[in-house]
This record gives sequence, C-alpha cells and structure tokens, in this order.
Amino acid sequence: MGRKLLLDKAHIPGIRYYDTYRGNGGYAAAEKALKGMTPDQVLDEVKKSGLRGRGGAGFPTGMKWSFIAKPEGVPRYLVCNADESEPGTFKDRYLMEFIPHILIEGLIISSYTLGANTCYIYIRGEYAWIPEILEEAIADAKKNGWLGKNIQGSGFDLEIYVQRGAGAYICGEETALIESLEGKRGNPRIKPPFPAVKGLWQSPTVVNNVETLAAVVPILNIGGEEYAKIGIGKSTGTKLISACGNINKPGVYEIEMNISVEEFIYSEEYCGGIPNGKRLKACIPGGSSVPILPANLLFKTAKGDTRMMTYESLSDGGFATGTMMGSGGFIVLDEDQCVVKNTLTFARFYRHESCGQCSPCREGTGWMEKVLKNIETGKGKMSDIDLLWDIQRKIEGNTICPLGDAAAWPVAAAIRHFRDEFEWHITHPEEAQVRNFGLAHY
Ligand code: NAI
Ligand code: SF4
Repeated sequence: MGRKLLLDKAHIPGIRYYDTYRGNGGYAAAEKALKGMTPDQVLDEVKKSGLRGRGGAGFPTGMKWSFIAKPEGVPRYLVCNADESEPGTFKDRYLMEFIPHILIEGLIISSYTLGANTCYIYIRGEYAWIPEILEEAIADAKKNGWLGKNIQGSGFDLEIYVQRGAGAYICGEETALIESLEGKRGNPRIKPPFPAVKGLWQSPTVVNNVETLAAVVPILNIGGEEYAKIGIGKSTGTKLISACGNINKPGVYEIEMNISVEEFIYSEEYCGGIPNGKRLKACIPGGSSVPILPANLLFKTAKGDTRMMTYESLSDGGFATGTMMGSGGFIVLDEDQCVVKNTLTFARFYRHESCGQCSPCREGTGWMEKVLKNIETGKGKMSDIDLLWDIQRKIEGNTICPLGDAAAWPVAAAIRHFRDEFEWHITHPEEAQVRNFGLAHY
C-alpha cells in the first residue's frame, strides 16, 4: 500500500466538517507554522520537500514563492487555482468536496509564508455545488480562530474569498484567471512580467493549484526532508491522479511517485486493469493537453527502462517517445477506441475554448477541427494528414499562452504514433462514416 498524505483521512466519516478534521489532527501544521516558525522557515521546508506545482506545469513551488516581489506598502495575494477544467482531470474536485479543510489549512500556511493577507479561491463554474462546501469550511475555520485578525495570537491576519468562474477553460491559465478575478474578460496576459511580480491588481501574486497548496500541510507535518524521501529524483512526494476511460476502477488515487505505469493501470490498488479482457491501446496520462502514448511505449522508455509515474520518466524521450505528467488526468483507451475521433473531440474542445487573442491559436484550432472532422467522417485526402501536421507546427510556440501548445500537441502525437489510423479513415471512407469506434485493423 502506497503512503497517503492527502487522502489518508478521506475514509473518516464527517471529515468534511471542522470538528472531525480538527479532532483527527487537522490544523496541527497551521499551528506549527503560525506559533513556532517564521515565514522563511516555512519556505525552507517547502523548498526542501521538492514540491512541484500539481496543476500541470510542475514548476518548483518553493522557487515560485521565493520569486514574490516585496515592494514596501504593496499588498501581496495568494490565489488558489481551483478552475480545474483539463479534460480527464477531477482530482482537485475530490479534495475540495470531501476534505475542504486540508485546502483551507494549506492556504493559511501558504499565505503566512508569502505575507499575503488576502487569498482568493477561483473555482470553475461547473463545480456549482462546491463553493458552498468551501464557504462553510471557511466560516467554520474563522469561527475557530483560524481566519480573520491576529490568527491564534500570531499577529497574522487573513481573509479567504471564494470566486466562482463562469465556465471558461482559459480562466485556468493563471493570468486569464487574474483578469477574470479583476472583473474583466479572461484574456491571458503576456509573461513576463510573471504574476509573482505583477499579478492581481498589478500586485505581487502567487497562483497555485489546489493540490499544491493542500500538499503544504503534510509537508509541515512530516517535514520537508521526509517528504522528499518519497518518490524518485525530482518527482518527490505523492501525486493525486484522476483515472478514467477504459479501466475497471475509475477514480481519484493518491500515488507515491515511485510506481510504474503498468502497476498503476493493472494493479487492484489502482485502476484494476482493462474491462472485458480488452487490450490496452493507448494512454493520455496527464490530461487532454499532453501527448497520447501508444501501448508499446507506455511501459518502457526508449532506453528500455521501466516507465514510472514520475515527471521525468513520463517525459523521457521527449515527444518522440514520451509524454508528460501534466495535471494527472489519466485517460486510458482500449483497443476499441478510435484515435482520430478522440483527437477530433479534443480539437473541438480547444477551438471552443480559445480566447481568440492570437491568430495561430484562433485560426489554427478551427482549421485543425475542420480537417480532423473531414478525415474522421471519411471525407479526407491523404494530403490532409500533412496539412494537419503543418497547422499544429505553426501553432506550437507561437502563442501568448499554453492553450495553443495544448491544442497542437495531441494532434502531433496522434499523427506521430497513429498515422496508419488516419490513413485508414481516408482509404476506407464508407466504413469510416458509419464506424466511429472499433477499428478492427488495429
Ligand atoms: P508555466 O510553465 O508557464 O508556469 C508555471 C508557473 O511558474 C507559473 O505560475 C509561472 O508564473 C511560474 N513561473 C515560471 N517562470 C517564472 C519566473 N521566471 N518568475 C516567476 N514565476 C515564474 O505553465 P502554466 O501556464 O502555469 O501551466 C501550464 C500547464 O497547466 C500545462 O502544462 C497543463 O498541463 C496545465 N493545465 C492544467 C489544467 C487543469 O485543469 N489542472 C488546465 C489546463 C492546463
Ligand atoms: Fe487565447 Fe489561444 Fe492565444 Fe491563449 S493561445 S491567448 S487561448 S488565442
């Protein structure tokens, strides 16, 4: 059994509520920080832990925090990115819905470390029932002296506010989120300046994912060094993975970052294998934005090493033979699934969610959808495959925010690894029009 640091109390009835959470050791980390540590000491523990951003980019959290500018008389903000919208990703929802106080506790410790007296939780509009859960947790924390003025006699003040998004994927991009929080249209800003220097209302702001901020609680409880002992290399600690698609046991799992991809898919502790004795065809291990990997590259890296559930191992070989950990939205495809259709579904999503600011993304996502639709419905030409390749190449790296890359990478990987499937759709137009799934030739 892997060690659980975030979900260790998830099975306790009533853990959603303050008294139960507190009665089971909750707020001990906040107590430790506020009563016995300076902000720099907390920062040092986070740095020692090796914690990396759990939203998708994997940027070192301690380093991000140390970048925050500290001009005299200017407020600093902490923003919790709860706009979890990456297709296949639903791990933050689980934390907020079932163990909201671990997030609130993490926000208190993180705000204290950053010297932020105001913190916002920006939550996706579709999670319509969760703001109430968070607001109740915030009210209970406040009633018990964990929020407001002079928290637990520490001299530190903090208020946390929940802001509901309106359902735009782009508002999960940190600068679009900031624009939206300011009451504007969620258009990403050009970086630099990074939010750590000029963020919310042009003030220094740290934006971190829900899971990242919650992970600060076990880090303080067990110590940064102990946390760093879990995992492999620079992939330290535990990671929440939301597993879905063709697996026997979809759900949210906490893994130590030292298990293999094969174990994650086939062991009873996690996904429990593929239903109905089907073969594994491919996997998208980090949410829709990361490259799809065919089964033959999934368990071994190009060097012949066992592919592990770590940032480094998943991306080993670059995009030629690897993929990315991303947000941990683990999507499994069995032999009946059509990669062309799957790619079209993602392309439609990105076209719809593009904010339209930059032309490679605005025009390119629409083009990719149209060309993919032609191929998928048997109306494509062989030259369309090269056209698709060309379009995605012109998007990648040429846009303001990573949505452009996120739209391009799945198309590139699908062509790179499943070109024969695209060709089959073109050479079998009649079959392709009636059969969305079940490519027997594969
Ligand atoms: P990024 O790599 O640009 O930035 C990572 C973080 O480090 C940001 O907070 C950035 O401000 C900070 N940073 C980087 N360099 C810095 C510097 N020199 N000074 C100060 N701060 C610096 O990636 P980004 O845009 O934050 O995230 C992209 C990832 O998000 C994608 O890889 C994707 O996997 C993931 N994603 C997750 C979603 C979800 O629902 N969880 C939705 C969509 C995308
Ligand atoms: Fe908007 Fe797309 Fe440009 Fe991002 S890449 S700013 S979503 S148009």
